[in-house]
Amino acid sequence: MLNRYEDAAKKAAEKFRRTAVSAAQANIIPYKSENGQWIASPYDGNSWWTGGFWPGLMWQFYAATKDGFFLEEARRAEKLLVDEFRTFRALSHDVGFMYQLSCGADAKLTGNDQAYTDTLHAASLLMGRFNPAGYIRAWDGENRAGFAIIDCMMNLSLLFWASRETKDPRFAHVAKIHADTALREFIRPDGSVSHIIEFDPETGKRVREHPGQGYALGTQWSRGQAWGLYGFTLAYLNTQDARYLDAAQRIAANFIAHIRPDGLTDCDFCQPDTEERIDNIAGAVAACGLLELHKITGKEQHRSSALRLIDGLLDLCCDWTKNRCGLLTKCTASYHDDGAGRHTNITYGDYFLVEALAKLNGTDPMLWR
Ligand code: GLY
Repeated sequence: MLNRYEDAAKKAAEKFRRTAVSAAQANIIPYKSENGQWIASPYDGNSWWTGGFWPGLMWQFYAATKDGFFLEEARRAEKLLVDEFRTFRALSHDVGFMYQLSCGADAKLTGNDQAYTDTLHAASLLMGRFNPAGYIRAWDGENRAGFAIIDCMMNLSLLFWASRETKDPRFAHVAKIHADTALREFIRPDGSVSHIIEFDPETGKRVREHPGQGYALGTQWSRGQAWGLYGFTLAYLNTQDARYLDAAQRIAANFIAHIRPDGLTDCDFCQPDTEERIDNIAGAVAACGLLELHKITGKEQHRSSALRLIDGLLDLCCDWTKNRCGLLTKCTASYHDDGAGRHTNITYGDYFLVEALAKLNGTDPMLWR
């Protein structure tokens, strides 16, 4: 008999197999489900930072089931993402999220040589965003030359991978410089992390913190906390540098202290009590980070906290309706901007919930390394 996590992963694979057909027919990369139907990202077409999560989901299901349908669907989305290299100008530091879960996964799971080349290309684009003043630039746009964001900790794995593959330390050097800057400038004494820090692009000196996707300046946007938790854990796995492990554990302790009694995650840990704003993506990302952290530390609190988060999502926020697209509900893209999605399904929430289940079930191909 399947346990609840195996059962959830099996049902998820069946649901996505059924609903992926409409995405393939429309030749879109699903961003979220609206009225039960997949819709593409409303921003920047296929260059939007979330494009890797759909193929990442397909590769997770392929790794678990070996069903060729998922491989075909992942490659369909991968082609759309690779086409974005030609236009290039809307791509950002998030090429790690985009291409490690698509081309990188393909290369890892099937040995596809072109996918391997495309993943190296993405790593080179990320290198091109490095400012030798000490950080990887997040976004393009006027007055943003000095912007770095905590989310980038997840993109660094692409650089560590490229150094291992090419036996050229340049990529890893850049990743470590950025991680050291994040260690120094983003982590606060209470273990919380800032979302956006602006540096002087000429000198690298800190200019100021900016309010990002959380409630307000200086508060704790929960998904940013989760990116820091998982991102520093990955930085440790890639370097064995104990400072990154210590950072991951401090961020984890703060995150764990803020898990709601029902296991769900507020959008910002400092939001007013009167506002019900949940971001289940944050809980799913944090669960993945905590499960990886548990493998390193062996601390029961890391695993039991991950289970509290996953159980909360399975108990309260999964839409198992057969023909409605999207699984995880109550995902919120940004505290103040409802346009990208508030309390709705968003595919990167689905991705991290499925990755967390795969970790528990022993099928996770660990696409981040
Ligand atoms: N990386 C952007 C976000 O988490 O919304």
